[in-house]
Amino acid sequence: MISNEAEFKKELAHRQQETEDVIRAFLPKEEGYAERVIEAMNYSVEAGGKRLRPLFIREVSRMYGVRAQLREPFMAALEMIHTYSLVHDDLPALDNDQYRRGRKTTWAVYGDDMAVIAGDGLLNYAYETALKALREAKDREETLRVTAALELLAKNAGIYGMVGGQCADLQTDRDPSSVDEETLLYIHRNKTAALIDSGLVIGAVLGGAPESDVRSLHAIAQNIGLAFQIEDDILDVTGNAKELGKSVGKDAQEGKVTYVSMHGLDASREQVRKLTDESLKLFDSLSVSDDFLRDVLEMLVTRTR
Ligand code: IPE
Ligand code: IPE
Ligand code: MG
Ligand code: MG
Ligand code: MG
Repeated sequence: MISNEAEFKKELAHRQQETEDVIRAFLPKEEGYAERVIEAMNYSVEAGGKRLRPLFIREVSRMYGVRAQLREPFMAALEMIHTYSLVHDDLPALDNDQYRRGRKTTWAVYGDDMAVIAGDGLLNYAYETALKALREAKDREETLRVTAALELLAKNAGIYGMVGGQCADLQTDRDPSSVDEETLLYIHRNKTAALIDSGLVIGAVLGGAPESDVRSLHAIAQNIGLAFQIEDDILDVTGNAKELGKSVGKDAQEGKVTYVSMHGLDASREQVRKLTDESLKLFDSLSVSDDFLRDVLEMLVTRTR
Protein backbone atom coordinates (compact mmCIF):
# COMPACT_ATOMS: atom_id res chain seq x y z
CA MET A 1 0.00 0.00 0.00
CA ILE A 2 1.19 3.49 -0.81
CA SER A 3 1.10 5.31 2.51
CA ASN A 4 -0.01 8.79 1.43
CA GLU A 5 -1.39 8.73 -2.10
CA ALA A 6 -1.83 12.50 -2.60
CA GLU A 7 1.63 13.29 -1.25
CA PHE A 8 3.16 10.55 -3.41
CA LYS A 9 1.50 11.80 -6.60
CA LYS A 10 2.79 15.32 -5.99
CA GLU A 11 6.28 14.07 -5.33
CA LEU A 12 6.16 11.82 -8.42
CA ALA A 13 5.13 14.72 -10.66
CA HIS A 14 7.94 16.84 -9.22
CA ARG A 15 10.61 14.18 -9.75
CA GLN A 16 9.30 13.33 -13.23
CA GLN A 17 9.65 17.01 -14.13
CA GLU A 18 13.24 17.06 -12.91
CA THR A 19 13.91 13.94 -14.95
CA GLU A 20 12.29 15.60 -17.95
CA ASP A 21 14.58 18.63 -17.58
CA VAL A 22 17.65 16.42 -17.51
CA ILE A 23 16.59 14.55 -20.67
CA ARG A 24 15.86 17.76 -22.58
CA ALA A 25 19.16 19.33 -21.58
CA PHE A 26 21.01 16.56 -23.45
CA LEU A 27 19.02 16.65 -26.70
CA PRO A 28 20.93 17.63 -29.86
CA LYS A 29 20.36 21.02 -31.54
CA GLU A 30 18.16 21.00 -34.62
CA GLU A 31 20.54 22.52 -37.14
CA GLY A 32 22.82 21.79 -40.09
CA TYR A 33 22.40 19.31 -42.93
CA ALA A 34 21.16 16.62 -40.53
CA GLU A 35 18.45 18.92 -39.18
CA ARG A 36 15.57 16.78 -40.43
CA VAL A 37 16.71 13.62 -38.69
CA ILE A 38 17.53 15.51 -35.49
CA GLU A 39 14.03 16.99 -35.59
CA ALA A 40 12.58 13.47 -35.90
CA MET A 41 14.75 12.25 -33.01
CA ASN A 42 13.66 15.10 -30.74
CA TYR A 43 10.02 14.76 -31.83
CA SER A 44 9.84 11.29 -30.36
CA VAL A 45 11.74 12.09 -27.17
CA GLU A 46 9.86 15.32 -26.55
CA ALA A 47 6.52 13.54 -26.96
CA GLY A 48 6.99 12.57 -23.32
CA GLY A 49 6.13 9.31 -21.64
CA LYS A 50 6.43 8.19 -18.06
CA ARG A 51 10.24 8.52 -17.98
CA LEU A 52 10.27 5.51 -15.71
CA ARG A 53 13.73 4.20 -16.62
CA PRO A 54 15.65 7.49 -16.11
CA LEU A 55 13.59 8.10 -12.96
CA PHE A 56 14.87 4.76 -11.65
CA ILE A 57 18.47 5.82 -12.39
CA ARG A 58 17.87 9.09 -10.56
CA GLU A 59 16.36 7.48 -7.46
CA VAL A 60 18.81 4.59 -7.16
CA SER A 61 21.70 7.02 -7.72
CA ARG A 62 20.49 9.10 -4.83
CA MET A 63 20.24 6.02 -2.63
CA TYR A 64 23.93 5.32 -3.23
CA GLY A 65 25.14 8.93 -3.30
CA VAL A 66 26.00 9.34 -7.00
CA ARG A 67 26.81 12.88 -8.19
CA ALA A 68 24.51 14.53 -10.74
CA GLN A 69 27.36 14.86 -13.29
CA LEU A 70 27.78 11.09 -13.32
CA ARG A 71 24.14 10.01 -13.29
CA GLU A 72 22.54 12.56 -15.62
CA PRO A 73 24.24 11.48 -18.89
CA PHE A 74 23.05 7.93 -18.16
CA MET A 75 19.49 9.10 -17.47
CA ALA A 76 19.29 10.88 -20.83
CA ALA A 77 21.05 8.04 -22.67
CA LEU A 78 18.71 5.35 -21.34
CA GLU A 79 15.62 7.34 -22.31
CA MET A 80 17.09 7.83 -25.82
CA ILE A 81 17.62 4.08 -26.15
CA HIS A 82 14.11 3.33 -24.88
CA THR A 83 12.62 5.92 -27.23
CA TYR A 84 14.53 4.54 -30.22
CA SER A 85 13.15 1.08 -29.37
CA LEU A 86 9.63 2.54 -29.52
CA VAL A 87 10.26 4.43 -32.78
CA HIS A 88 11.38 1.20 -34.45
CA ASP A 89 8.75 -0.94 -32.70
CA ASP A 90 6.02 1.26 -34.21
CA LEU A 91 7.29 1.01 -37.81
CA PRO A 92 4.99 -0.56 -40.41
CA ALA A 93 7.44 -3.47 -40.74
CA LEU A 94 7.12 -4.19 -37.01
CA ASP A 95 3.94 -3.32 -35.04
CA ASN A 96 2.60 -0.82 -37.57
CA ASP A 97 1.28 1.65 -34.99
CA GLN A 98 -0.01 5.16 -35.70
CA TYR A 99 -0.05 6.60 -32.18
CA ARG A 100 2.55 6.82 -29.47
CA ARG A 101 2.77 9.02 -26.40
CA GLY A 102 -0.38 10.84 -27.44
CA ARG A 103 0.96 11.84 -30.85
CA LYS A 104 1.27 10.44 -34.34
CA THR A 105 4.19 8.02 -34.44
CA THR A 106 7.52 9.22 -35.82
CA TRP A 107 7.17 7.27 -39.08
CA ALA A 108 3.62 8.60 -39.57
CA VAL A 109 4.94 12.18 -39.41
CA TYR A 110 8.42 11.92 -40.93
CA GLY A 111 8.07 8.82 -43.14
CA ASP A 112 9.50 5.41 -42.38
CA ASP A 113 12.85 6.24 -43.98
CA MET A 114 13.44 9.11 -41.53
CA ALA A 115 12.00 7.06 -38.64
CA VAL A 116 14.53 4.29 -39.27
CA ILE A 117 17.48 6.68 -39.18
CA ALA A 118 15.97 8.72 -36.32
CA GLY A 119 16.07 5.46 -34.33
CA ASP A 120 19.68 4.88 -35.46
CA GLY A 121 20.50 8.47 -34.51
CA LEU A 122 18.97 8.12 -31.05
CA LEU A 123 20.76 4.86 -30.33
CA ASN A 124 24.11 6.30 -31.35
CA TYR A 125 23.54 9.62 -29.63
CA ALA A 126 22.68 7.70 -26.47
CA TYR A 127 26.25 6.40 -26.32
CA GLU A 128 27.70 9.78 -27.28
CA THR A 129 25.75 11.12 -24.29
CA ALA A 130 26.55 8.38 -21.77
CA LEU A 131 30.25 8.64 -22.61
CA LYS A 132 30.22 12.20 -21.26
CA ALA A 133 30.07 10.65 -17.77
CA LEU A 134 33.51 9.16 -18.35
CA ARG A 135 35.02 12.66 -18.56
CA GLU A 136 33.43 13.49 -15.21
CA ALA A 137 35.10 10.60 -13.39
CA LYS A 138 37.50 11.94 -10.78
CA ASP A 139 39.72 8.94 -10.13
CA ARG A 140 40.42 5.38 -11.17
CA GLU A 141 37.66 3.99 -8.98
CA GLU A 142 35.03 6.24 -10.58
CA THR A 143 36.37 5.51 -14.05
CA LEU A 144 35.91 1.79 -13.40
CA ARG A 145 32.36 2.34 -12.13
CA VAL A 146 31.37 4.45 -15.13
CA THR A 147 32.87 1.84 -17.46
CA ALA A 148 30.86 -0.93 -15.77
CA ALA A 149 27.70 1.19 -16.10
CA LEU A 150 28.42 1.76 -19.81
CA GLU A 151 28.83 -1.99 -20.31
CA LEU A 152 25.49 -2.64 -18.62
CA LEU A 153 23.74 0.05 -20.67
CA ALA A 154 25.07 -1.43 -23.91
CA LYS A 155 24.45 -5.08 -23.07
CA ASN A 156 20.84 -4.57 -21.96
CA ALA A 157 20.04 -2.72 -25.19
CA GLY A 158 21.49 -5.32 -27.55
CA ILE A 159 21.17 -8.94 -28.66
CA TYR A 160 21.54 -10.14 -25.06
CA GLY A 161 18.77 -7.75 -24.04
CA MET A 162 16.10 -5.66 -25.76
CA VAL A 163 17.02 -6.48 -29.39
CA GLY A 164 17.10 -10.19 -28.54
CA GLY A 165 13.64 -9.94 -27.00
CA GLN A 166 12.25 -8.03 -29.97
CA CYS A 167 13.70 -10.70 -32.28
CA ALA A 168 11.86 -13.51 -30.47
CA ASP A 169 8.72 -11.36 -30.25
CA LEU A 170 8.72 -10.81 -34.02
CA GLN A 171 9.38 -14.48 -34.76
CA THR A 172 6.46 -15.57 -32.61
CA ASP A 173 4.24 -13.06 -34.44
CA ARG A 174 5.02 -15.04 -37.58
CA ASP A 175 4.25 -18.35 -35.92
CA PRO A 176 2.02 -17.90 -32.84
CA SER A 177 1.68 -21.67 -32.36
CA SER A 178 5.38 -21.85 -31.48
CA VAL A 179 5.04 -19.79 -28.29
CA ASP A 180 5.27 -21.62 -25.01
CA GLU A 181 5.60 -20.25 -21.48
CA GLU A 182 9.39 -20.32 -21.62
CA THR A 183 9.56 -18.38 -24.89
CA LEU A 184 7.14 -15.77 -23.56
CA LEU A 185 9.27 -15.40 -20.45
CA TYR A 186 12.38 -14.93 -22.60
CA ILE A 187 10.57 -12.27 -24.65
CA HIS A 188 9.37 -10.29 -21.64
CA ARG A 189 12.69 -10.55 -19.81
CA ASN A 190 14.55 -9.24 -22.80
CA LYS A 191 12.35 -6.86 -24.71
CA THR A 192 11.15 -5.14 -21.54
CA ALA A 193 12.95 -6.16 -18.33
CA ALA A 194 16.41 -5.56 -19.82
CA LEU A 195 16.03 -1.75 -20.14
CA ILE A 196 14.33 -1.65 -16.73
CA ASP A 197 17.39 -3.47 -15.44
CA SER A 198 19.56 -0.61 -16.73
CA GLY A 199 17.29 1.79 -14.88
CA LEU A 200 17.52 -0.04 -11.58
CA VAL A 201 21.15 -1.15 -11.61
CA ILE A 202 23.16 1.66 -13.25
CA GLY A 203 22.80 4.00 -10.25
CA ALA A 204 23.96 1.23 -7.91
CA VAL A 205 26.98 0.44 -10.08
CA LEU A 206 27.91 4.14 -10.31
CA GLY A 207 27.61 4.46 -6.54
CA GLY A 208 29.71 1.40 -5.74
CA ALA A 209 26.82 -0.38 -4.01
CA PRO A 210 27.54 -3.67 -2.19
CA GLU A 211 27.58 -6.69 -4.51
CA SER A 212 24.56 -8.21 -2.74
CA ASP A 213 22.52 -5.04 -3.40
CA VAL A 214 23.47 -5.13 -7.10
CA ARG A 215 22.34 -8.77 -7.26
CA SER A 216 19.03 -7.92 -5.57
CA LEU A 217 18.44 -4.97 -7.91
CA HIS A 218 18.95 -7.26 -10.93
CA ALA A 219 16.37 -9.63 -9.43
CA ILE A 220 13.97 -6.75 -8.73
CA ALA A 221 14.33 -5.65 -12.37
CA GLN A 222 13.50 -9.16 -13.60
CA ASN A 223 10.31 -9.23 -11.54
CA ILE A 224 9.24 -5.65 -12.15
CA GLY A 225 10.12 -5.87 -15.85
CA LEU A 226 8.02 -8.97 -16.28
CA ALA A 227 5.15 -7.42 -14.31
CA PHE A 228 5.46 -4.25 -16.39
CA GLN A 229 5.09 -6.10 -19.70
CA ILE A 230 2.20 -8.24 -18.40
CA GLU A 231 0.53 -5.00 -17.31
CA ASP A 232 1.23 -3.50 -20.75
CA ASP A 233 -0.51 -6.53 -22.28
CA ILE A 234 -3.42 -6.15 -19.81
CA LEU A 235 -3.77 -2.46 -20.68
CA ASP A 236 -3.88 -3.35 -24.36
CA VAL A 237 -7.15 -5.12 -23.47
CA THR A 238 -8.60 -2.96 -20.69
CA GLY A 239 -6.87 0.39 -21.17
CA ASN A 240 -8.02 3.71 -22.53
CA ALA A 241 -6.26 4.85 -25.72
CA LYS A 242 -6.40 8.50 -24.76
CA GLU A 243 -4.86 7.93 -21.38
CA LEU A 244 -2.29 5.45 -22.66
CA GLY A 245 -1.40 7.67 -25.62
CA LYS A 246 -1.23 4.63 -27.89
CA SER A 247 -3.72 2.36 -29.63
CA VAL A 248 -5.45 -0.41 -27.69
CA GLY A 249 -6.84 -3.75 -28.78
CA LYS A 250 -4.00 -4.25 -31.27
CA ASP A 251 -2.57 -7.39 -29.68
CA ALA A 252 -5.85 -9.32 -29.89
CA GLN A 253 -6.56 -7.94 -33.34
CA GLU A 254 -3.20 -9.21 -34.59
CA GLY A 255 -3.58 -12.55 -32.79
CA LYS A 256 -0.50 -11.79 -30.71
CA VAL A 257 0.45 -14.26 -28.01
CA THR A 258 0.71 -12.41 -24.69
CA TYR A 259 0.47 -13.36 -21.04
CA VAL A 260 -3.18 -12.32 -21.22
CA SER A 261 -4.01 -14.43 -24.27
CA MET A 262 -2.31 -17.42 -22.62
CA HIS A 263 -3.67 -17.11 -19.08
CA GLY A 264 -6.57 -14.66 -19.13
CA LEU A 265 -6.99 -11.31 -17.37
CA ASP A 266 -7.51 -12.50 -13.80
CA ALA A 267 -4.48 -14.76 -13.70
CA SER A 268 -2.44 -12.00 -15.36
CA ARG A 269 -3.43 -9.46 -12.73
CA GLU A 270 -2.62 -11.97 -10.01
CA GLN A 271 0.79 -12.56 -11.56
CA VAL A 272 1.54 -8.80 -11.67
CA ARG A 273 0.67 -8.58 -7.97
CA LYS A 274 2.80 -11.60 -7.11
CA LEU A 275 5.84 -10.35 -9.05
CA THR A 276 5.50 -6.91 -7.48
CA ASP A 277 5.32 -8.35 -3.96
CA GLU A 278 8.43 -10.36 -4.71
CA SER A 279 10.19 -7.16 -5.85
CA LEU A 280 9.14 -5.27 -2.75
CA LYS A 281 10.48 -8.03 -0.53
CA LEU A 282 13.83 -7.84 -2.33
CA PHE A 283 13.75 -4.04 -2.16
CA ASP A 284 13.31 -4.19 1.61
CA SER A 285 16.39 -6.38 1.87
CA LEU A 286 18.72 -3.73 0.36
CA SER A 287 21.35 -2.13 2.59
CA VAL A 288 19.71 1.29 2.06
CA SER A 289 16.04 2.17 1.88
CA ASP A 290 13.97 4.66 -0.08
CA ASP A 291 10.26 5.09 0.56
CA PHE A 292 9.60 7.00 -2.64
CA LEU A 293 11.12 4.40 -4.97
CA ARG A 294 9.31 1.67 -3.04
CA ASP A 295 6.04 3.51 -3.73
CA VAL A 296 6.90 3.80 -7.44
CA LEU A 297 7.35 0.02 -7.65
CA GLU A 298 4.05 -0.46 -5.84
CA MET A 299 2.28 2.05 -8.10
CA LEU A 300 3.14 0.12 -11.26
CA VAL A 301 0.57 -2.55 -10.33
CA THR A 302 -2.28 -0.10 -10.53
CA ARG A 303 -1.03 2.07 -13.39
CA THR A 304 -3.47 3.06 -16.08
CA ARG A 305 -0.89 4.41 -18.55
C1 IPE B 1 6.39 0.98 -23.50
O1 IPE B 1 7.13 1.44 -22.42
C2 IPE B 1 7.02 -0.23 -24.08
C3 IPE B 1 7.07 -1.38 -23.16
C4 IPE B 1 8.19 -1.89 -22.79
C5 IPE B 1 5.86 -1.98 -22.66
P1 IPE B 1 6.54 2.58 -21.46
O2 IPE B 1 5.16 2.19 -21.03
O3 IPE B 1 7.52 2.85 -20.38
O4 IPE B 1 6.42 3.81 -22.46
P2 IPE B 1 6.57 5.37 -22.20
O5 IPE B 1 8.02 5.66 -22.09
O6 IPE B 1 5.83 5.71 -20.94
O7 IPE B 1 5.98 6.00 -23.42
C1 IPE C 1 7.62 -3.38 -27.08
O1 IPE C 1 6.56 -4.13 -26.60
C2 IPE C 1 8.75 -3.34 -26.20
C3 IPE C 1 9.90 -2.66 -26.87
C4 IPE C 1 11.10 -3.09 -26.73
C5 IPE C 1 9.69 -1.48 -27.71
P1 IPE C 1 5.14 -3.70 -27.22
O2 IPE C 1 5.18 -3.75 -28.70
O3 IPE C 1 4.07 -4.45 -26.50
O4 IPE C 1 5.10 -2.18 -26.73
P2 IPE C 1 3.94 -1.16 -27.09
O5 IPE C 1 2.65 -1.75 -26.59
O6 IPE C 1 3.98 -0.97 -28.57
O7 IPE C 1 4.32 0.07 -26.30
MG1 MG D 1 6.22 -4.82 -30.23
MG1 MG E 1 4.37 -2.24 -30.07
MG1 MG F 1 2.08 -3.54 -25.87
